Amino acid sequence: MVPRVAAAAALLCAFLGSCARGSLVLPADGPGRTSNKTEGPCTLAGTWVNELGSQMVLSASNAAGHFSGSYLTAVSASEKPIRASKLKGSHHQTNRRAQPTFGFTVQWAFSDSTTVFVGQCFVDASGQETLETTWLLQEEVASRADAWKATRIGKNVFHRVK
Ligand code: BTN
Repeated sequence: MVPRVAAAAALLCAFLGSCARGSLVLPADGPGRTSNKTEGPCTLAGTWVNELGSQMVLSASNAAGHFSGSYLTAVSASEKPIRASKLKGSHHQTNRRAQPTFGFTVQWAFSDSTTVFVGQCFVDASGQETLETTWLLQEEVASRADAWKATRIGKNVFHRVK
């Protein structure tokens, strides 16, 4: 960022007292133009752990809000040895929403199941980020007659560890 623009942005934030905690105004889109884009809490990129001890690492998202990552579950409904598994998701843009909703899918590398998570990132007064999520775990069953028992639902709460 051009230093004079950064300094002016910081002064404006301090004066208005309304810039999100830890946010940073990024470079203008062009001469004389301002950008709403911010970096700050709830950008989702990083390492998160839930109350079961499962860990996920999320990449930085692209301009459309799409991200990928890796999920290492601490528990499993499968008998197979647990392995880290890929995930793909998207979130609403953090330049418009400080506490974005998001969703991602984990395609389990060691079982035939798939889990989808939806949730929202919340930031408390001290800047601590929490992901409140709800998931659906779809298990592969032998026949359509067993479809009724193929879906589990639950909730997980994640905290950032990195
Ligand atoms: C399987 O059991 O076939 C794959 C692993 C599923 C792990 C589930 S997904 C929802 C819940 N949250 C976790 O962190 N792990 C379990």
